[in-house]
Amino acid sequence: MNKLNHLAIIMDGNGRWAKNRGFLRTKGHEKGALVVEQMCEFCIDNDIKILSLYAFSTENWKRQKSEIEFLMTLLKKFLISKREIFIKNSINFQTIGELDPFSSELRAEILTTKEATKNNTKLKLNLAINYGARDEMVRAIKRLNEKGLSPNEQNLQSCLDEICDIDLLIRTGGEFRISNFMLWQASYAEFAFTPTLWPEFNKQELSQIVSEFGKKERRFGGI
Ligand code: FPP
Repeated sequence: MNKLNHLAIIMDGNGRWAKNRGFLRTKGHEKGALVVEQMCEFCIDNDIKILSLYAFSTENWKRQKSEIEFLMTLLKKFLISKREIFIKNSINFQTIGELDPFSSELRAEILTTKEATKNNTKLKLNLAINYGARDEMVRAIKRLNEKGLSPNEQNLQSCLDEICDIDLLIRTGGEFRISNFMLWQASYAEFAFTPTLWPEFNKQELSQIVSEFGKKERRFGGI
């Protein structure tokens, strides 16, 4: 069985889930946020050490202002309401992506949550916000230059927001694309695509996907 150390998920389908039920798209995001806790529980129970979730991309700023504002408020509420659970369950909360464009209130909640959970060791939860893999690589190159490091794979990787390779990348919502998510880290990831819309994704389906992953033959370019 393959060891699953780093699980990453593109959480897609919130809008369609809501539309199918005659709700506003924002209702889908609200419901989607509730799934995150289940995913963290699954990772802890199955000794998965890193969970990276794509919550807001560098391209998502193209959405309507009202939807963006809703997502920012949802994220703030999420951090405030989950902080104690993160502490209790030994979850180390981290973000990937550039935080500068967010409001000072939201950044303060992010920093408080990071600080409060920094010594937790059971699970690292990476929330990708204002994240794009191309942006991450450009920022990594800037860091590399600032540090005066020579440009090789190891040094460039050390300057990324997340340095650990992904083992399994899941995308919900029925699309077969990667949407600028962790391109470097996904180089040798196994992929799983499911038509299930994110608000309906659950531990049972995750467990099935993880069990299929366990059986895959991973060669990493060897034979
Ligand atoms: C993609 O679905 C989802 C997003 C762009 C936002 C993801 C946000 C959440 C899962 C909830 C917030 C999470 C936290 C941790 C607070 P979509 O809107 O593109 O759906 P569609 O493809 O059906 O339109």
